[in-house]
Amino acid sequence: MAVSLSLNGKDLSLDVPDDMPLLWAIRGVVGLTGTKFGCGMAQCGACTVHVDGQPIRSCITPVSAVSGQKVTTIEGLQGKAAQAVQAAWVRLEVPQCGYCQSGQIMSATALLTQNAKPNDADINAAMNGNICRCATYQRIRAAIHTAAKSLQG
Ligand code: FES
Ligand code: FES
Repeated sequence: MAVSLSLNGKDLSLDVPDDMPLLWAIRGVVGLTGTKFGCGMAQCGACTVHVDGQPIRSCITPVSAVSGQKVTTIEGLQGKAAQAVQAAWVRLEVPQCGYCQSGQIMSATALLTQNAKPNDADINAAMNGNICRCATYQRIRAAIHTAAKSLQG
């Protein structure tokens, strides 16, 4: 059965089972590997993508659930908040092994798109589901504050 969606601005029709996890469709069918598989149980955030701008866990989302919607992965992330986040990530050298980082950036960008001046509690709430085995949490929080400041000019 074909599932139609917009992926990073491109209209696609994927000939996949309805219940295939969106993550499998993105990585295995389309071949975009920036979105990572961590736990497969909505526990780590490595697989975070945006659906109509909202961060979701693609490992537990059936591809049919995003039919007709706009899906954005790390490869297609654009806009002021995304640029500010990625610049801050580079400046503060946030990643260690890097495995969790595309998910972290997706969540951080969604946060700053909705809340241009988050406090620590806002950051904790938004980033709570994104696990980093290398424990880069302090740098992530600092980078979000740096990105927020740059967005405010
Ligand atoms: S792989 Fe989806 S939340 Fe861990
Ligand atoms: S940078 Fe290694 S898991 Fe986060």
